[in-house]
Amino acid sequence: MIPAGKRNELSKLEALMAEDSSLPLAGQANLVFGEGDVDAAVMFIGEAPGETEDRLRRPFVGRGGQLLDRMIGAIGWRRADVYITNIVKRRPPGNRDPLPEEIAAYRPYLARQIDVIDPRVIVPLGRFAMCYFLPDAKISRDHGRAWTVDGRVVYPVYHPAAALRSPDMMRAFQEDFKKLPGVAAGN
Ligand code: URA
Repeated sequence: MIPAGKRNELSKLEALMAEDSSLPLAGQANLVFGEGDVDAAVMFIGEAPGETEDRLRRPFVGRGGQLLDRMIGAIGWRRADVYITNIVKRRPPGNRDPLPEEIAAYRPYLARQIDVIDPRVIVPLGRFAMCYFLPDAKISRDHGRAWTVDGRVVYPVYHPAAALRSPDMMRAFQEDFKKLPGVAAGN
């Protein structure tokens, strides 16, 4: 699909989501749909928006987002060249973990968003996004490993917020990012 067609499809999907009052958290928080290059080869998927993301209606723009931006820059990429979104697209109250029923309710929309963007590589950020693709995986064991799921490479890494909390996780996060250009190139 040409980028203009993708942009159109994504706008329609965002409008559908905005109107879907059956979605959990609808009416309680802003919809943070996602942003970036609609033709990106690499899509980053987090857990759910936080307070800053809710306010600005953009994914990963708080402290975790700043770390993600630095890591994307450190491997010579630009944020504008990838696509960034979350599995649950509204902020859970008090930044609690997303509930299984919230993940399930938002799932068909994320599936469609992935179909339209059609990235070669998906980078789940943290265990909730990882388990969406790899239900039996364990983030402490399986971060930085490339899997094939439905014809796409899935390469989970720690969540930036976890990396900010723990020096060990930060080291692993940085090491995993260093390998990402090779993973994206198919090495
Ligand atoms: N954490 C996430 O998982 N997603 C965001 O957009 C921000 C913080």
